[in-house]
Amino acid sequence: MKKIAKVIVAVIAVIAALFVGFFFITISYNNEYKGDFKEVLKSTAAAPAKKAIVIYQPSKHGTSAKIAKRLAEGLNSSGYEVTLSYPGAHLPASLGEYDIVAFGTPVYFGQISLALTDYMERSTDLAGKKVLIYSVGNDKELPEFAAFERSLKGVRPGAKKKFIAADTDSVDLAYKFGVDFGK
Ligand SMILES: Cc1cc2nc3c(=O)[nH]c(=O)nc-3n(C[C@H](O)[C@H](O)[C@H](O)COP(=O)(O)O)c2cc1C
Repeated sequence: MKKIAKVIVAVIAVIAALFVGFFFITISYNNEYKGDFKEVLKSTAAAPAKKAIVIYQPSKHGTSAKIAKRLAEGLNSSGYEVTLSYPGAHLPASLGEYDIVAFGTPVYFGQISLALTDYMERSTDLAGKKVLIYSVGNDKELPEFAAFERSLKGVRPGAKKKFIAADTDSVDLAYKFGVDFGK
């Protein structure tokens, strides 16, 4: 009997250790700096274009990048020149040149990306801009937005949005959201 109890305790300990390892690997993946990726979608408008930037943390299997790209295309079709970028030191601290600033992050274990919030906390000149904060995840609850909003240091976002990664129309919704937010 004692032997069975020992085996059960050992199995539970292994499962717990695997879970803790998986938790830390997943969280640190989401917090990592992902490089100086930057892409600009030019505006086709004849007049000097208004400018938007979508700063997002990519997720493991590309969903966050797909959402960001379609959101950017929606803003672009509303007349904005749109820069897409990962957060990081390659971006200037001042976002003063943009009319719209969007910050996006995937959510793992209720946590948003520290790579993104670190950048948000050192970014400047957001006052008076249309600011969007959005998350990508599968849980319809929104606990992540409290920390997300704190990173804006008192600037009130024009919109907060969660895109549900598993929804087949999430990418279409991101495009439509971009079109509407750009109006
Ligand atoms: C280990 C793990 C934990 C997750 N935790 C959350 C969570 O707390 N809240 C949430 O909304 N989504 C959560 N998700 C869903 C992810 O946010 C979603 O799978 C991700 O944004 C999609 O990106 P991908 O398809 O590129 O991997 C979790 C997913 C995984 C794998």
